Amino acid sequence: MATMEDHVARWFDVQSVPLSHTFPPENRPGKLPFPTCSAIPIINLSNPERLDTIQKIIEAGRNFGFFQVINHGVSESVSTEALNVLKELFNMQDEEISRDAHKNGWAHMGSTSYAIDGIHLWRDNIKHLCHPLEKCVQHWPQMPTRYREVMATYVQEMRRLSFRILEIISEGLGLEKGYFEEISQVQFLSGSNYPACPDPSVTLGVLKHFDHSLITILFQGNVEGLQVLHDDKWIGVGVVPNAFVVNIGTQLEIMSNGKLRSAEHRAVTNSEEDRLSIATFINPSPNCIIEPAKVLINESNPPLYDSFLYNDFIVSSKAFGPLTELVQTKD
Ligand code: OGA
Ligand code: NI
Repeated sequence: MATMEDHVARWFDVQSVPLSHTFPPENRPGKLPFPTCSAIPIINLSNPERLDTIQKIIEAGRNFGFFQVINHGVSESVSTEALNVLKELFNMQDEEISRDAHKNGWAHMGSTSYAIDGIHLWRDNIKHLCHPLEKCVQHWPQMPTRYREVMATYVQEMRRLSFRILEIISEGLGLEKGYFEEISQVQFLSGSNYPACPDPSVTLGVLKHFDHSLITILFQGNVEGLQVLHDDKWIGVGVVPNAFVVNIGTQLEIMSNGKLRSAEHRAVTNSEEDRLSIATFINPSPNCIIEPAKVLINESNPPLYDSFLYNDFIVSSKAFGPLTELVQTKD
């Protein structure tokens, strides 16, 4: 039988899950089939009743920390092309990918380079910054040749959509217009390939975590795998055609003084087909003081969180892994 060592480049062709990728029982995702949930709200962004949209988003943010958006104005070809070009990238040989990453300065975590507590995730992942675009694009993959063009369109659309949703949230919370855009000049992308896995019950695509962003938008194509912790249970976020999954990051939870909640989530694998996803994150600028918005604080609503400098959090939490140096303040 093929071993992991024989197959570093095509590691996911193995017939059974190697020990290097088998999680201890307490971290396994559990029995198949994994549950899918229809309770996570689906928000129609073209609803002419803006107050209704505001209310639904705030409610979803409070109850789940997650929602999906449809009729968002991003054309289907933009997101499917982005997934396609990501797939082409992951189809390249590992050495080719590493060479490009090293040459251009983006982060690649392949099957053998990404371990947590000694166990590897069942995924290939790339990360790079996206804003300001003209500067960042120089540090993106050069191969496939259309990567930069296709992904530039995608991340600009995601930036626009993120701030559109943040504006709705800001209105819902009673903050001034542009509150979030002013303080969040960082955008980055995390693209993942979760190959079909011989035994999804012992592997994970991504360990449970919070996003330490303001807001994250995920495109998961048409293959499920994202799970959200809700009332102590893992629920699967179902595929809705051409929808984006939106989640509240920990920094937005703090700024909203807990009116919105950030939820833990993870990605499971499946045995049928490869799953690709693209997450784009809007983060506070490193020099931003993170604290509950002043207008939300009064005698009956004391601040529920201490304030801190976002850069201190980036440095001390190690939450950004290989992106740490890129997202922090440089003097
Ligand atoms: C992430 C993430 C989930 C997925 O990149 O932060 O949660 O389904 N991804 O890829
Ligand atoms: Ni996440």
